Amino acid sequence: MHSIKPLANYFEVELGKYIFPTTPSNLYDPLSYFLQLGGKRIRPILTLMAAEMFGSKKESAIHASMAIELFHNFSLIHDDIMDKAPLRRGQETVHLKWNDDIAILSGDVLLIKAYQELAKQDRNHVPALLNLFNQTAVEVCEGQQLDMDFEGRDIVTIEEYIEMIRLKTSVLLGCALEFGAIISNASEEDSLLIYEFGQNLGIAFQIQDDILDLFGDPKKFGKQIGGDIISNKKTILLLKAIELAKDLKSDGLSMMMQVTDSEMKINTAKSLFTSLGVIDFAREQMTYYQQKALKALEKISVTSENKKILIDLSEYLFQREI
Ligand code: IPE
Ligand code: IPE
Ligand code: MG
Ligand code: MG
Ligand code: MG
Repeated sequence: MHSIKPLANYFEVELGKYIFPTTPSNLYDPLSYFLQLGGKRIRPILTLMAAEMFGSKKESAIHASMAIELFHNFSLIHDDIMDKAPLRRGQETVHLKWNDDIAILSGDVLLIKAYQELAKQDRNHVPALLNLFNQTAVEVCEGQQLDMDFEGRDIVTIEEYIEMIRLKTSVLLGCALEFGAIISNASEEDSLLIYEFGQNLGIAFQIQDDILDLFGDPKKFGKQIGGDIISNKKTILLLKAIELAKDLKSDGLSMMMQVTDSEMKINTAKSLFTSLGVIDFAREQMTYYQQKALKALEKISVTSENKKILIDLSEYLFQREI
């Protein structure tokens, strides 16, 4: 884990230098607020790691890594409106602290700021970076829409769920890593492999997020526990529980879905999911995608010494509680 710190610190210092204008304050204050709340900064760190792994200096990837983190924060500000989330990184969400209109517009301007950062990369690389960023941004929106559509559907398959999280979450991790490959002029084959690594890591990452959403420690997680249950999100836990309850001909789950009191619904879900053993299933799936990610990483044509930092990061990701 110690090897991740220098890059994380480097990024945090650079982000600290990224200052928003002061007026209109209702446009920019929410962004200064949101970005200084912290966050794990995984995506920009992935860009920096990939750039280094393929032989570049971290400095050469700083604008691309900044673009990734700004985009991620834009997506969270809008996601919190859509998910009616009260808490983010242990503090009030932008749409609650200000209002929905302000959260929409400050999110919009943050997305544009992400593109402005990307345009600062070496001009030879901008077309390829932009192409990947555009494709990724569209896919994230597609994933977010599927996530919302699934709230209102009774039947969603695990395959549909995996595709939804691939779009809403994983492609951004793949993009972050491939940015590093593009900046370092890595081969086409290695670029595809690092993207593949990111995509599978991202699927495992979102499965972990689904588990933590219900079973995380409220003091550490920084988001409302049980938010997914309250909004009928089709998480991997709920989907597996629906499948098992059907097999067992148990109606406990459909009764749980009817409960209107949030606290009672969350507690019922926790005990039902625990008795059905769906957490073990989710953890197995998480490990499966983590292993798949590592297999792609293995095939990349750089020394194992150079891959070590990404292996360390992927291990850290799955021990996380936030
Ligand atoms: C939250 O991402 C959104 C998901 C895809 C689960 P992170 O867990 O990386 O959020 P921060 O940036 O560390 O707060
Ligand atoms: C968010 O998924 C994915 C994006 C923001 C694109 P979630 O809705 O599960 O993320 P959290 O749990 O709010 O961080
Ligand atoms: Mg959310
Ligand atoms: Mg969401
Ligand atoms: Mg979540």
